[in-house]
Amino acid sequence: MNFEGKIAISTGAASGMGLLFAQTWAELGGNVVLCDVNENVLKEKVEEINAKGKGKAIGAVCDVRNYNQICNARDKAVETFGRIDVVANFAGGTATRMRKVNREEYPEFPDVPIDVYDWGIDVNLKGPFYFAHAVLKQMREQKSGLIINIGSITGAEGDSYGMDYPTSKAGLMYGLTKSIAQYGSRHGIRCVCVSPGPVLTRAAMANMKTLLGRAAEPQEIIDLCLFLASDKGQFINGENIMIDGGRNAMNRCW
Ligand SMILES: NC(=O)c1ccc[n+]([C@@H]2O[C@H](COP(=O)([O-])OP(=O)(O)OC[C@H]3O[C@@H](n4cnc5c(N)ncnc54)[C@H](O)[C@@H]3O)[C@@H](O)[C@H]2O)c1
Repeated sequence: MNFEGKIAISTGAASGMGLLFAQTWAELGGNVVLCDVNENVLKEKVEEINAKGKGKAIGAVCDVRNYNQICNARDKAVETFGRIDVVANFAGGTATRMRKVNREEYPEFPDVPIDVYDWGIDVNLKGPFYFAHAVLKQMREQKSGLIINIGSITGAEGDSYGMDYPTSKAGLMYGLTKSIAQYGSRHGIRCVCVSPGPVLTRAAMANMKTLLGRAAEPQEIIDLCLFLASDKGQFINGENIMIDGGRNAMNRCW
């Protein structure tokens, strides 16, 4: 695959899969805008990508809960590189984990302060919704573009504690992805959701069962995203693709 002359925006790009997507995209010749709230790490990662001398990288400090910051990131991408070919919405995570909620103090769903779940729904669902609204104008002008949403097997399974997460991910996997694909079809724009099972961006994910008896390497998820953006992936649209080692096909007994 070769992404020379192509521009991607990756969110949640200071770590995990958002970072790996940005690094691999640049490795394959594309230019990339890394968006994250973590300004220091973002700066360091942008420098690392540029030092490799392949695709160029810039950073945009951007909280995906903030529409104005998203518009600034979009404008920075267009001012620097002239267009936006791909937006990959990696920023996200379960609020109770990301916000370090103490399970002993807040044992069940109704005990957890509502602002924790607000954070989860805002980052996981509103972030990609805001991003779509902000970048579709640019993609409409170009008459091309791809938005990759990142769902999760949990969006199909539910979670009795971290309820913000499956609620938001299901919104991406079905409603938002199909809706963007429907709108985009008039303008040469596609939208696809990639929904991983457990991924080893954290060692603990190895404990989540799959039919294949292992969790995914992060690169396996990124390779699918890159395929969707490549010449070979152009007919895939409006779809949620599970990449979960068959977890969705397991006969689970609760
Ligand atoms: N790791 C898994 O097993 C797994 C499984 C299924 C889906 N996913 C999804 O994949 C995506 C990436 O997961 P990961 O494990 O690589 O994540 P990660 O925790 O390594 O990285 C998340 C990044 O998002 C950034 N972030 C947090 N809040 C933000 C905000 N408001 N605005 C912008 N950036 C923000 C963080 O600073 C961090 O750099 C997430 O959406 C996650 O829900 C992960």
